[in-house]
Amino acid sequence: MNEQIIHNPVIDTLLDRRSIRAFKPGPLGDDVVATLERVAQQAPSSQYLNDWSAIRVADPALKERLAAIGGQPYIATAPLLYVFVADEHRNTAIAAAKGVDPAGDAFTLDGSYRFSQAQNDAVLALHAMETAAYSLGLGCVVLGSLLNDVDGLVDALGLPALTYPVLGLAIGEPDQEPALKPRMPRTMQFFEDAYPADDASLLAGLPAFDEEVHRYYDLRNTDRPVDAFSDQIAANAVAPMNGRVVRDSAARQGFHLDR
Ligand SMILES: Cc1cc2nc3c(=O)[nH]c(=O)nc-3n(C[C@H](O)[C@H](O)[C@H](O)COP(=O)(O)O)c2cc1C
Repeated sequence: MNEQIIHNPVIDTLLDRRSIRAFKPGPLGDDVVATLERVAQQAPSSQYLNDWSAIRVADPALKERLAAIGGQPYIATAPLLYVFVADEHRNTAIAAAKGVDPAGDAFTLDGSYRFSQAQNDAVLALHAMETAAYSLGLGCVVLGSLLNDVDGLVDALGLPALTYPVLGLAIGEPDQEPALKPRMPRTMQFFEDAYPADDASLLAGLPAFDEEVHRYYDLRNTDRPVDAFSDQIAANAVAPMNGRVVRDSAARQGFHLDR
């Protein structure tokens, strides 16, 4: 296999990306906002349903509320803050105007397949925006922590039925220089034609990767070394989910994940 990596500005932007959690103050220009939003819109969309939206959070008090939900103070300091939302509300209104009955048996925009595809669409749009932001010299962090309290987030953002928050994205000029975080050997993540039949070959590169992760210097916890990857995974495998039951909050938003 040819191990050579091709370099160009797009690839180098992607290879150089790392999460940024400290931002210089100050608003970003309207042209930056317009560019990032337009780029996000150009992401692919399942069946061209365009079933995502994004809320730009500008109100400082609302930013603080979201930071409290996420338990991460830097959320409130982001000059640009978005919450990407899976959105079948708009399409339901569009279809209803065309005579479709949202309460009818034939209606599927509230089902599990559209719920997961709308999430995919939202994530792809967010990632396009993130990459564009890095290409402009900005930095970002994706915010799953906002889903600590989906109902609180729904309330804070006034999200209507058949919408569901997917992820936040904080953007700004970096005020820190974190190291690139290691990634596992490519052979542990890319397979040819079929998934490896035995876990021994699947995990062959793990000890060396554990060591590499252990050596990574995390600006968030500068007083202690980072746990080996295996230890992080083992801890996460039994982490309490604290009410993060998607089925229940999705049902409150009108989605039926059992169909
Ligand atoms: C779905 C998702 C949710 C995330 N949520 C958070 C978050 O709530 N807060 C945070 O600081 N980082 C969050 N991150 C960033 C990850 O911690 C980060 O991408 C990972 O540790 C790898 O580090 P790197 O981005 O610097 O390479 C999230 C990333 C993803 C993809």
